[in-house]
Amino acid sequence: MDKMWSGRFSASASSLLDEFNASIMYDRKLYREDIEGSLAHAAMLAKQGVLNTDELRQITDGLNQIIKEIESGEFEWKIEDEDLHMGIEKRLTSLIGDAGKKLHTGRSRNDQVAVDFRRYVLRKNADIVKALKLLMQEVIVVADKHTNTMIPGMTHLQHAQPINFAFHLAAYLSMFKRDIERFESSAERNNISPLGCAALAGTPHPVDRNMTAEILGFDSVSVNCLDTVSDRDFALEILFNISTMMMHISRLSEELVMWSSYEFGFVELSDEYSTGSSIMPQKKNPDVPELLRGKTGRVYGSLMGLLTVMKGLPLAYNKDTQEDKEGVFDAVETAEISLEILKEALKTMEVKSHNMESACAIGHLSATDLADYLVAKCDIPFREAHFITGRAVAKGEEIKIDLSKMDLTDLQAIDERIGEDVIEYLGLRHSMNARTSEGGTATVRTQEQLEYFKNYLKG
Ligand code: ARG
Repeated sequence: MDKMWSGRFSASASSLLDEFNASIMYDRKLYREDIEGSLAHAAMLAKQGVLNTDELRQITDGLNQIIKEIESGEFEWKIEDEDLHMGIEKRLTSLIGDAGKKLHTGRSRNDQVAVDFRRYVLRKNADIVKALKLLMQEVIVVADKHTNTMIPGMTHLQHAQPINFAFHLAAYLSMFKRDIERFESSAERNNISPLGCAALAGTPHPVDRNMTAEILGFDSVSVNCLDTVSDRDFALEILFNISTMMMHISRLSEELVMWSSYEFGFVELSDEYSTGSSIMPQKKNPDVPELLRGKTGRVYGSLMGLLTVMKGLPLAYNKDTQEDKEGVFDAVETAEISLEILKEALKTMEVKSHNMESACAIGHLSATDLADYLVAKCDIPFREAHFITGRAVAKGEEIKIDLSKMDLTDLQAIDERIGEDVIEYLGLRHSMNARTSEGGTATVRTQEQLEYFKNYLKG
């Protein structure tokens, strides 16, 4: 009878351990990387004489059969197999017998997981770069139509100077371009093969690391095995890169949320990408940009999570490292859907140019132009010009007229040196187009910027 309870106890304890210890329910996402890694390793072992031709053929056929089983949903993922590496190897051995038991020669799960996860991250770097380029293209389509649409340029969320809407969007193009460069540079730095590092110290078997690196599409092999099996910088980099990209997406989203309010009324998101309220029938809510803003927080969480997992680890591999995957998978999936939905939301959004331009008529957006006029035309030092302009603004506030619409007599009452050519200077479109310095908002300059990004995308 005592066996009964001890049997029960050990069974329940081990299933708890299985559940706690296993990564198979999520690392199975890496099945292609894992099997391709095994195929490359087997081919190399055969070339080195560790496997004979028949063993290699059996292993290759078995692994290809397993890919089919996984893709058709037939493969049985069992929690007691712990991770995908063991699950696949066990299945291989059950399919082909002894030859399957030789596959792990000169290899450890430590270099195996490093290969799989690194290749997954490299693949996702490339996918995200592609999606970012498509998003940039869509931003350019919108921007191209609005190189002459004025919008209040702001600092401190206060009206500052008139800019054009395309110029505003080109700021985001700059951010997305930097994001792409960041993903690309991470991919370049981390394109090194861990295979052949084995558990931590290398292996006495005659492995050819360059051969497997080449088959798997890595640029080169890693230099130090102890580092390689415990290095997760590539995962941290993609998390940081996604975090930064999401921060940019979140800033744009915040603007889309504001712009869709009645107070701004600058854009209207399409019905397809808006939601309603369960109680207030009139509502049209910008859930898409709000969620993009919200999901950014979750991605930061994954970055902080992995940084924290890594910070106290002695060399080399520690099981803590298994915690690297879920946050990365989640962040990558969040990034992919976010890029796609933001692109669609922009594509279908209505830009209300009229409201943008009307908003420019308040807040004395051409005040800097009056100061610049006093400097350029009246030879007044800028500090003094700033003061005179301040008085003109105060006058405008008092008589409830925007500086851009004030008449000459009112202006000359403030300073008699002001000539009648000032009227043109204070015009809002003039103000916008006066900013012709490199990178400025003048329509011609903005068009140049859009050309720059188009050329960049053409590669
Ligand atoms: N499932 C493990 C992980 O994801 C694979 C490596 C296990 N290595 C080990 N020595 N227990 O990190």
